[in-house]
Amino acid sequence: MSKKPKHIAIIMDGNGRWATSLGKARHVGHQVGSKVIREIVECSVRLGIQELTVFGLSCDNMARPQEELHYLLSVFMRSLQEYTQEMHDMGVCLKVIGDVQGLGCELSKAVRDAEEVTKTNKVLTLTVALNFSGKWHIHHTTQKLLENPVSLSDDQIEQAFSQLLPSDPDILIRTGGERRLSNFVLYHLAYTELYFLDVKWPDFRQEHLESVLASYAKVERRFGNVGVSV
Ligand code: IPE
Ligand code: MG
Repeated sequence: MSKKPKHIAIIMDGNGRWATSLGKARHVGHQVGSKVIREIVECSVRLGIQELTVFGLSCDNMARPQEELHYLLSVFMRSLQEYTQEMHDMGVCLKVIGDVQGLGCELSKAVRDAEEVTKTNKVLTLTVALNFSGKWHIHHTTQKLLENPVSLSDDQIEQAFSQLLPSDPDILIRTGGERRLSNFVLYHLAYTELYFLDVKWPDFRQEHLESVLASYAKVERRFGNVGVSV
């Protein structure tokens, strides 16, 4: 079995606390954090990672103060404008999962346009979860399945859940020091290796990613079976 992960998921946490600890407003953390995403995408391409799934904004984050929410949405919009061409040149296919319609016409159009431009790229699939939560995904998928009620095999259910995210992450990294999943993808994390890092997202660098990869390379994944040495 390959010791290099195919698919890495990241909960990019700690932007606000990073900014506050430096005496700056929380939005500065979001701004710096967006540049780190760009850097980590580039480094994932270099490292031969095929899929990167990042938690951009959860359904639960929608309850944040309006001012912060607007700022976060404007950062996404600007990132799409600034980075889509660059991502395209690197061979990145961008996908956004979640209730994007609920974020307004302008942003959802920008998302669809960026997806269209990059849709045939094969080097890396970057999936950004926006206005997404694991429970939203379960509800959304269940509703889709109920549109056409037939008796469903396990494979059909698996396929329905994999519409938005076709493969299970090998690794989940959460920065920012908390050890929880915060309603990120749930179905797909059944056998994912979890890495909780104290570093806050704006300070996350290639060396942090590399140290997770080095640790992952030593893990024996048994998927409920017995180990090879038994
Ligand atoms: C993560 O950083 C970014 C988003 C949730 C959009 P936070 O904003 O949650 O930062 P902390 O956890 O408050 O430091
Ligand atoms: Mg947080």
